Amino acid sequence: MDQEASLLRWAGLTIADGRAPGTDRIFLRPLTESDIDERYIAWFADSEVTQFIQSRNFSIEESRRYLREGRTNRSYFLYAICLKETGAHIGNVKIGPINWPHLVSDLVTVIGQKDCWGKGLAAEAIALGSRMAVEEYGLRKLHGAILESNFGSIKAYTRAGWVVEGRLEGHYLVDGAPMDAILVSYFGPRGRADALT
Ligand SMILES: CC(C)(COP(=O)(O)OP(=O)(O)OC[C@H]1O[C@@H](n2cnc3c(N)ncnc32)[C@H](O)[C@@H]1OP(=O)(O)O)[C@@H](O)C(=O)NCCC(=O)NCCS
Repeated sequence: MDQEASLLRWAGLTIADGRAPGTDRIFLRPLTESDIDERYIAWFADSEVTQFIQSRNFSIEESRRYLREGRTNRSYFLYAICLKETGAHIGNVKIGPINWPHLVSDLVTVIGQKDCWGKGLAAEAIALGSRMAVEEYGLRKLHGAILESNFGSIKAYTRAGWVVEGRLEGHYLVDGAPMDAILVSYFGPRGRADALT
């Protein structure tokens, strides 16, 4: 069985039977080592793509190792965002790092293919990834701290059902100047303090 098929089976999903999480326009599938090629590396070498994220300028081998390590340690899992029409891989959703004792996690989204920006695809991918994190991984809550000036990202997350939970003042340094982080969260049915267990 190839790597992708075994991962899909592990996640309880198959593309063939149409159960891969998807919308009319995109679907998510586990990222594979063969997805990590020159084109993929170029996304993370593009200063516009990496402006608000920490992953940048890695080699193919480093990136493949990173993918393997997440699975081995069960600390994070990477999914490819693909267009339904062509199957083209346009970006990633990362579920993680997962805090297993508390069943909470970050969820990071990157659309590397810049001609796909501004079409609402990130919001759809975040919604799919969030649902999968809750339903397939059993996570209760997802959270992230987004740089205040990353308007596109804040919009995409809140459109995908996330809520603004707070603000960390002067949390990040941008060109040496402190900037606030906006705390965004997604609550599964067992996410809140008053949830029934
Ligand atoms: C942030 C990112 C995921 C958004 O992807 P996307 O597919 O363009 O997002 P969506 O189309 O779902 O939503 C973005 C919305 O924000 C708007 N937007 C984008 N940049 C903006 C800006 N600088 N100022 C104001 N609004 C902005 C878009 O116009 C769109 O709104 P609209 O549909 O009302 O026009 C994508 O740009 C990306 O991958 N960036 C690089 C990595 C990154 O920063 N990831 C987020 C880490 S927290």
